[in-house]
Amino acid sequence: MAGQVVLVTGASRGIGAEVARILGSSGCHVLVNYREKAARANNVVKEIRAAGGRASSAAANICDEAAVEVLLADVSERFGRLDVLVLNASGGLERGADSGYAMRLNRDAQLRLATLARPLMPPGSRIVFVTSHQAHFYPARQVPEAYGPIAESKRAGEDALLASRSALAARGITLRVVSGDMIDGTIIVRLLQRRDPAAVAARRSRAALPTVEEFATAVARAALDPDHPDTTYVGGADYLVSDATRRLGNPN
Ligand SMILES: NC(=O)c1ccc[n+]([C@@H]2O[C@H](COP(=O)([O-])OP(=O)(O)OC[C@H]3O[C@@H](n4cnc5c(N)ncnc54)[C@H](OP(=O)(O)O)[C@@H]3O)[C@@H](O)[C@H]2O)c1
Repeated sequence: MAGQVVLVTGASRGIGAEVARILGSSGCHVLVNYREKAARANNVVKEIRAAGGRASSAAANICDEAAVEVLLADVSERFGRLDVLVLNASGGLERGADSGYAMRLNRDAQLRLATLARPLMPPGSRIVFVTSHQAHFYPARQVPEAYGPIAESKRAGEDALLASRSALAARGITLRVVSGDMIDGTIIVRLLQRRDPAAVAARRSRAALPTVEEFATAVARAALDPDHPDTTYVGGADYLVSDATRRLGNPN
């Protein structure tokens, strides 16, 4: 990865921050994107540098097209290329978010960033879309009510990106998806726990939730490994078993 440039969106905390730290130890320059928590993003940058890696923070609300253009112009000027784009930033459960926000962030902003970044991405580069099982399998599987709009919008984001796969492939850019079960200790799971404790308890009773480190390692692998599967699942295998099979009591 030496000399390569990686942009991780929403890397000021949680899974994105851990992905940035892991990629920072691989020799590339990591751009730690954040929306408003500059101090947190700068801390992630400091941690990467203290461990001997290279990183800088990169402010941009990815819903703001002008801010994304400024960010990409800066990447172009400083590095002239972008080798990996990790589409990790996500949201919609924030207090005060309007009803269209989840779709603007989780679908429109993801596709727009991937499209605007394309000219900077050389053949062999990768885009990794980070999603949850609840979104990836939406609407086939039940989701906690509070998470419904997020699941729908992230599924729509994944579909929009998959529809652009041939245009990406024509430029030698690979699109990968990494989907995770509820991840232990994250703010999203804490929010869900508050709004729908039964849904979280039901999930925990079936299998241990994966950790941030496990999930971030899978995302980093998808970003680094040239021969990686298109879709990676992280979490209890039971989630991937159909409801009908589960009812029959046959996990295989
Ligand atoms: N948590 C889970 O259980 C779980 C499970 C499976 C998959 N995932 C996926 O993993 C990814 C990360 O989840 P997480 O739990 O780590 O999220 P998180 O803790 O809520 O962190 C979200 C990050 O995204 C940034 N962000 C939010 N809106 C943004 C915007 N408009 N523009 C730029 N950055 C923005 C935030 O930056 P600021 O701090 O600056 O606002 C923050 O760095 C998501 O794609 C999520 O769907 C999560």
